[in-house]
Amino acid sequence: MTFPHTLRIAETAAEAGEMAAAMLAEAIAARPSIVLGLATGGTMRGVYASLLARQTRGEVDLTQICAFNLDDYLGLGIEDEQSYATEMRRVLFAPAGIDPRRCHIPNGRAADPAKEGDRYEAAIRDAGGIDLQLLGLGVNGHIGFNEPGSLPQSRTRVVDLAPQTIVHNRKHFPPGADVPTRAISMGIATILEARRILVLATGAVKADAVSAMLERPPSTDCPASFLSRHGQVSVVLDRAAAARIGPVRAP
Ligand code: F6R
Repeated sequence: MTFPHTLRIAETAAEAGEMAAAMLAEAIAARPSIVLGLATGGTMRGVYASLLARQTRGEVDLTQICAFNLDDYLGLGIEDEQSYATEMRRVLFAPAGIDPRRCHIPNGRAADPAKEGDRYEAAIRDAGGIDLQLLGLGVNGHIGFNEPGSLPQSRTRVVDLAPQTIVHNRKHFPPGADVPTRAISMGIATILEARRILVLATGAVKADAVSAMLERPPSTDCPASFLSRHGQVSVVLDRAAAARIGPVRAP
């Protein structure tokens, strides 16, 4: 099997999150100042909770990592409750005690959003590039907010969210609140430059996207399928997310 480099299937979503956290903790232990690419969303909450628990038990020190998040909503920033910047501060950066200067995320409130992508790409380059990129998977196969139609050469930029993504994300906003329709996201080329990639997907709702990512030729229909062009991708699934992949891959 050439893609992914490793595939691990846990029985439950909680176990899959623990597996991903263990892989991250191992990488951090090997290089405490590692540059991590991070993701937000429901799938990652268990991963970050597990990393924090490991730090409390003295098994890992998160304080020296440098983080670059994939994306944030256009128009929302650290001042906004629903921004990914606020979410990351709440679920990982503040409780882990990571200096905010080491925590990067595209600024959804940038004065000139068209230039924010270039600034972010330069910041990643200045940090020496991303050592390990953690990715979730959208129900439509998106990675970051690279929705279907995104090109493999895409870079950090303003993107329109797919209608399906807006519906999926509505649950994170109070009833009646406007859900953002645009975001600033790392591009597919940006993601593919990471030295290693770890994809975590759980739940039956992701089963079709997982199958398209692993078993269909690379295509803009499923942006995650471009990960097959990278030589160091690990995929962690739970049994429900693995339900539609073939028996050779998912024994
Ligand atoms: C979030 C991100 C997205 C999510 C994906 C899965 O920063 O980039 O690609 O990883 O939408 O979201 P959940 O985990 O909420 O299903």
